[in-house]
Amino acid sequence: MTDLLAARGLGIAFGGVVALRDFELSVAEGDLLGLIGPNGAGKTTAFNLLSGVLAGGAGSIRFAGQDISRASPERRARLGMTRTFQNIRLFEELTVLQNVMAGAHARHGAGLFDALFGGPRLRRSEAAIRERAEAVLARTGLGDLARQRADALSYGDRRRVEIARALASEPRLLLLDEPAAGMNEREKADLSTLITRLNADDGLTIVLVEHNVRMVAGLCRRLLVLHKGERLAEGPTEEVLRDPDVVAVYLGRRRQPAAVAASAPC
Ligand SMILES: Nc1ncnc2c1ncn2[C@@H]1O[C@H](COP(=O)(O)OP(=O)(O)OP(=O)(O)O)[C@@H](O)[C@H]1O
Ligand SMILES: [Mg+2]
Repeated sequence: MTDLLAARGLGIAFGGVVALRDFELSVAEGDLLGLIGPNGAGKTTAFNLLSGVLAGGAGSIRFAGQDISRASPERRARLGMTRTFQNIRLFEELTVLQNVMAGAHARHGAGLFDALFGGPRLRRSEAAIRERAEAVLARTGLGDLARQRADALSYGDRRRVEIARALASEPRLLLLDEPAAGMNEREKADLSTLITRLNADDGLTIVLVEHNVRMVAGLCRRLLVLHKGERLAEGPTEEVLRDPDVVAVYLGRRRQPAAVAASAPC
């Protein structure tokens, strides 16, 4: 089976700092892959290069059978690659529904102006986008918040709206950058359930960046660990979490093989 996403030799430096070096990633359709590593390891940089937010890096990227190495972020989104941001980026003065509709526009958009002032065909497309957004809100448990302004939401709800907005674009691949950051335990548990369902029930392919190793280990069968811009380990979750190099990076010293997840910070 060919991979949905295949990145080869990705790399970039900022000034003298190598943020990512020779990054390789293969993601098959239906995968739920965890991308972990300490602060500054290069996880967000990898997402920035994959999603095209950062241009000018080394390497090549194939997605859905096409070479997208030089494609714009918008083209990657239209092909079905969508991401969320570590620093939440919502339209603060718009409602939850409008934020999520904006996500649907990213894929199918006629443009908001056309949708509002265009002819009947465009108005129909706007109706379809609203329908899609409402379905996603129901799926993500945000239905009751549809008419709330984004800036009135709790932190955990804001993160969920970001995910809902990404889902509204009907992605084939979803890149989640620390979706549980700032969430309480209850919200984290709900998020884990949602991620599992999106992957197992809806067949969505997901790459998850998350500091909460216990959560990642519970969700992902395969992990890739970055450290100082380089790949430290990759493989089945249990093997990777017993890898002495991984244990050393997470616990700051070498120990008997142990499940990092049992003692890693949440
Ligand atoms: N735009 C930038 N300009 C300069 N340096 C950058 C930039 N983006 C990232 N870096 C540097 O590249 C390295 C990797 O950063 P990156 O944000 O990818 O790490 P990360 O694994 O996402 O960390 P965290 O877990 O803290 O989010 C760090 O040394 C960071 O300071
Ligand atoms: Mg990051």
